[in-house]
Amino acid sequence: MILAAFLNAGVQGTAGWRHRDASPAFLTAAHYVRIAKVLEEGKFHFAFVPDALSVPRSLGNSFAPAVKWGSGTPRLDPVPVISVMAAATTHLGVAATVSTGYHEPYNVAREFATIDHLTGGRSGWNVVTSFQDAEAQNFGEPKLPPRPQRYARAEEFLEVATRLWDSWADDTIIADQESGVFGKPENVEAIDHDGEHFRVQGPLSVPRPPQGYPVIIQAGASESGRDFAARWADVIFCSHESLESAIAFYADVKARAAAHGRDPDQVKILPAATPVIGVDTKDALAKHEAFAELVSVEAGLSRLAYHVNVDLTKYDVDGPLPTLEEVGVEGHYREVVEFAEREKLTVGQIGRWYGARTEGSLVGSAAGIADTMEQWVDARAADGFIIQATHVPGSFDEFVAEVVPELQRRRLFRTEYEDGTLRDNLGLTRPQRGEWKARRR
Ligand SMILES: Cc1cc2nc3c(=O)[nH]c(=O)nc-3n(C[C@H](O)[C@H](O)[C@H](O)COP(=O)(O)O)c2cc1C
Repeated sequence: MILAAFLNAGVQGTAGWRHRDASPAFLTAAHYVRIAKVLEEGKFHFAFVPDALSVPRSLGNSFAPAVKWGSGTPRLDPVPVISVMAAATTHLGVAATVSTGYHEPYNVAREFATIDHLTGGRSGWNVVTSFQDAEAQNFGEPKLPPRPQRYARAEEFLEVATRLWDSWADDTIIADQESGVFGKPENVEAIDHDGEHFRVQGPLSVPRPPQGYPVIIQAGASESGRDFAARWADVIFCSHESLESAIAFYADVKARAAAHGRDPDQVKILPAATPVIGVDTKDALAKHEAFAELVSVEAGLSRLAYHVNVDLTKYDVDGPLPTLEEVGVEGHYREVVEFAEREKLTVGQIGRWYGARTEGSLVGSAAGIADTMEQWVDARAADGFIIQATHVPGSFDEFVAEVVPELQRRRLFRTEYEDGTLRDNLGLTRPQRGEWKARRR
């Protein structure tokens, strides 16, 4: 199975910083180097850093809750963070989130091509379209554009970025000191893109990345998001509250990829999982309970308000959560609805649960957690997992020390890296020059 690590470049979750095994040094390079080394020791495929371009505005449309409870802020720029992590490792893949909403494709294509060269082909880009109005407000817009518009821009963004990576053929540089010829000019071409959102001449100033295209990651859960991911993504993140919904999502996305003429095995689906490991289930539940006590209702609701991009102060904490229109992260919202209906939770109870849970709680002994992971992979609900930490570095230390050996004993997880790029390690083929034509709509 594939293992990726979800690592905020700042504080984790809603109350991760309060855990006694959480390091307070989350603004230092040493912190990220320390975690990268543990992940590499655990043979993780890649570390992934999420992002958002604002201090979250949540309850009462204010950024005060985020600052007060350390939920979703501070947040370092993920690209320099993954560079630091890559420099301290030799095999670990590194992936960063960059929004197509508030960047230009030329900068982003150049940034990831650069990291891909510097790391010998270990980079990944999590393509997001942003989900908070607060992000739009840092770029001169009062609100996020509606979802169809966000995805239309993302579509063109990916087309331009992949064409820029293809603007150099592989093996263009000869650097023949004898003749003085540096490169083959016939191998480099402008792209002359003139579209609805972008006009880009090209070529890129960086030669074609070692992986052809850095690994493309996506997490869209809506109709447009799934369609986009099925065409462009190599790796898809999702989060589910039940095995059934994970199986349905897995089948749906693989079928969509096949319908676009792709080999479904070339799209890897990684649900989020947050392990809380104990010597036995009772011990793990007690640990989880102790962690949940660190989360206040307001902090939990503030995290939910941030993810769904809806001010939840207008709802009675003792009443049910009404149906929300136009939510930010649809996947997270669906999970909340599924769980709250099943458990008949009030808004206040949802807040506490949401703040404490982090995605896909796996609470149990190392063997119990490995059982669940095995079950999900066998049931075709997952090709692997994106492991979230309740706190860092403690959660990753424990996972690598206790669950990874258990997975290795069962031959569910490798004991060594394969030589080569992140794509090679993930079992993904290297895109031929011109592959963008097959992936676009
Ligand atoms: C595991 C996981 C990680 C995500 N990380 C980010 C992130 O770092 N930044 C972000 O803006 N959105 C993130 N998202 C949200 C998705 O990228 C996507 O924007 C969201 O699911 C809304 O998609 P939709 O518009 O198709 O519903 C993440 C989602 C999941 C499941």
